Amino acid sequence: MRRPIIAANWKMHMTLGEGTELAQGIVKGCRDMDDVDIVLAPPFTALSTVRKEIHDTPIALCAQNLYWEEKGAFTGEVSAAMLKDVGCDYAIVGHSERRQLFGEIDRSANKKVLAALTHDLIPILCVGETDAERDRGVTYVVVDRQVKEALKDVAATQLDRIVIAYEPIWAIGTGRTATPAQAEEVHQSIRGQLAKLFDTDAAETVRLLYGGSVKPDNVDDLMAEADIDGALVGGASLKPDSFNRICGFERRT
Ligand code: PGA
Repeated sequence: MRRPIIAANWKMHMTLGEGTELAQGIVKGCRDMDDVDIVLAPPFTALSTVRKEIHDTPIALCAQNLYWEEKGAFTGEVSAAMLKDVGCDYAIVGHSERRQLFGEIDRSANKKVLAALTHDLIPILCVGETDAERDRGVTYVVVDRQVKEALKDVAATQLDRIVIAYEPIWAIGTGRTATPAQAEEVHQSIRGQLAKLFDTDAAETVRLLYGGSVKPDNVDDLMAEADIDGALVGGASLKPDSFNRICGFERRT
């Protein structure tokens, strides 16, 4: 059984005051949920502050990005060791906004995955196709390539320390969620590909999250799918009520 993860991606939102309030609201609603891993990814500036709010709870801290070098003249970048130092256990890698707006490519995602693993951070690797790619029928080609390239030089024994988020770009921030069946299809394909690249047992340990307009009113049906092990939540993670409801998704057996 894979333990579910619900991760909040706050993106470029939340001043220190706002982030404190949001984290307090989430702690209040979620601190006793012991059957789900809850992960918060505030902007870098708020990591330390949010860390204080969640420090005696099971809620984990996540960075939205990292740089693969250890240290040096890399203005504006933050290393895996720095993130570990501030209390992160996770780091998002290769989010589609990083790929589309900041020129990130599969090769950089790969370096980030490897750097995260070296420093005992769990990478949440994001993959997903654009609207045009889905229309052209190349969803699986794109997602297969993203997974394969980003996991180059990763060992099968490290797979249980990797989370993959399938985030179709046409569903991010658009209110157009993939249907549970559409998402499940791609998740199954990712798991099948992991089995081919590594082995079946290792592939079974990887937690696959769905992201893209996850909301209180669609999370239950998404989470009911066999290969959807959690959610990466953007917009709906910015209010305690909606995020807490998502973490409290209906447990169906
Ligand atoms: P959204 O964002 O929930 O606002 O669609 C998800 C994401 O980008 O991770």
